[in-house]
Amino acid sequence: MSSLADLFSNNQSWAQGLIAKDPSFFEKLSIQQQPEYLWIGCSDSRVPAEELVGLAPGEIFVHRNVANVVVHTDFNSLSVIQFAVDMLKVKHIIVCGHYGCGGVMATLRQERVGLVDNWLRHVDDVIQKHSSLLGHWENETDRGNHLCELNVIEQVANVCKTTVVRDAWERGQQLTVHGWIYGMKDGLVRDLCTSASTLEEARCNYQKAITTLPE
Ligand code: CO
Repeated sequence: MSSLADLFSNNQSWAQGLIAKDPSFFEKLSIQQQPEYLWIGCSDSRVPAEELVGLAPGEIFVHRNVANVVVHTDFNSLSVIQFAVDMLKVKHIIVCGHYGCGGVMATLRQERVGLVDNWLRHVDDVIQKHSSLLGHWENETDRGNHLCELNVIEQVANVCKTTVVRDAWERGQQLTVHGWIYGMKDGLVRDLCTSASTLEEARCNYQKAITTLPE
């Protein structure tokens, strides 16, 4: 278990390590950021966005919340998407969920956790929408894993439907939205084949991704 003092000491070593490789690293980065990616992931401590895809500071813009949900009326995630697309001109938005997501599993089990239950109603909407499909898996782990995948696919669709992304596509901006899922047991990321660079592709690949979920 780390103490707070350890965190400061870790920070010093981390900064020194980067400066050793490139003495002007922080100076250059302090002037501007030019990330090509926006990552929308779960807050779970076991899914560190930059680390698991091997990117350095300045290379990925990150938004995380419980169960990686993108809600049409959530000004937090919408503002992040708007800034990333309009100002930073990211080329890719990656929605990355993870198997065994506590928020998703609590929703599946209809557990009461507290205030967060209200946020997780959005995951419950995914369950309602795909209840017949989810009924195919009797085992709770299998059903939960497929719900984690369906939740990503639905959130990708939500990102594609935002005015920000639609406007970007309409003006011909290069932007692709992707749906990935991370396996905590093997550390590997899988593509859920729901990537879209146009609204038409978003509609088409959403249907395909739903009907061809990984086994
Ligand atoms: Co999670």
